[in-house]
Amino acid sequence: MTTPTEVTRPHGRVRIDSYLDGGGERSLADDVLDGLTRPFKELPPKHFYDARGAELFDRICELPEYYPTRTERAILRERADEIAAETGAAELVELGSGTAAKTRVLLDALESAGTLRRYIPLDVTESMVRMSAETLVREYPDLAVHGVVGDFERHLNEVPEPLGPRIVAFLGGTIGNFPPGSRRRFLRQIARLLGPEDFLLMGTDLVKDPGVLEAAYDDAQGVTAEFNRNVLHVLNRELDADFDPEGFEHVALFDERHEWIEMRLRARRAQTATVRALDMTVDFDAGEELRTEISAKFTLERATGDLAAAGLELVHWLTDADEMFALSLSRLRG
Ligand SMILES: C[S@@+](CC[C@H](N)C(=O)[O-])C[C@H]1O[C@@H](n2cnc3c(N)ncnc32)[C@H](O)[C@@H]1O
Repeated sequence: MTTPTEVTRPHGRVRIDSYLDGGGERSLADDVLDGLTRPFKELPPKHFYDARGAELFDRICELPEYYPTRTERAILRERADEIAAETGAAELVELGSGTAAKTRVLLDALESAGTLRRYIPLDVTESMVRMSAETLVREYPDLAVHGVVGDFERHLNEVPEPLGPRIVAFLGGTIGNFPPGSRRRFLRQIARLLGPEDFLLMGTDLVKDPGVLEAAYDDAQGVTAEFNRNVLHVLNRELDADFDPEGFEHVALFDERHEWIEMRLRARRAQTATVRALDMTVDFDAGEELRTEISAKFTLERATGDLAAAGLELVHWLTDADEMFALSLSRLRG
């Protein structure tokens, strides 16, 4: 068990535990050492999300091309009462909670059902966890919020013990950021947060026309391009590096074989960056690419197979009329 590096003492109904100081930086350094020395350079997507990255992601969610957020919200609006009735959840644990914008739909339904007691947002972006916690306790007078600032790949053990039946929500299609093997391993870790009365509610973007997918990750206003380049700003600030973000072009492409979107940064010219904190230099050939995200797209079969590999069984598959996005409600196999 890790000791929180910073704890806001239980104050009213909000408590925030942070597990990232120091550790977060180490993980960025490890990922840079590992990912930028590979033959095909790569960084994990969690490093997009400093305060600016989180804000840019929020803008992406409002873009006309970015259908996942509004579609997932519409499914939630339509089915939240049913989910509340089925689960009788006293608490909602949300992994990668961000601004918790869509979460309100679930909280409203659980509150109306009279079962809601606590919300536990877990996210790497501290400002988001704090802001959503403070806002939600004002909006929901009987709700306790226990925020966890952490990395869901390292800090799931820090999710507090349940107060009653719980829903673990993993929305926004974030599960698609894991490659298939890691995805199943991560789902097994999530399953450990569940008891026999608990449910996983997971958002998955669905396989569809590549043109629609690629537009969602390469919008006309260039917000996604800024979000993608933001990772270089994070490296410059956190690791005293000198990457030139404008020296890289945003690339989004659908890999039909793997059925995932890839976001890459392509060097506009040959260049060398220095990462002073790690005493390393990183060379790019002109046109060389750095992969910054994969976002796997799902079918019912793929989702069911992944859940089964983690010991979970599908209870409901909730989708929109155009089958753009799906929410799966699952529980431990009996
Ligand atoms: C695609 S956004 C989804 C946000 C929100 N759940 C939604 O549905 O709109 C991914 C969220 O997960 C968070 N995140 C990404 N990697 C993470 C990690 N390893 N640990 C904790 N949070 C992470 C990001 O900060 C961001 O808020």
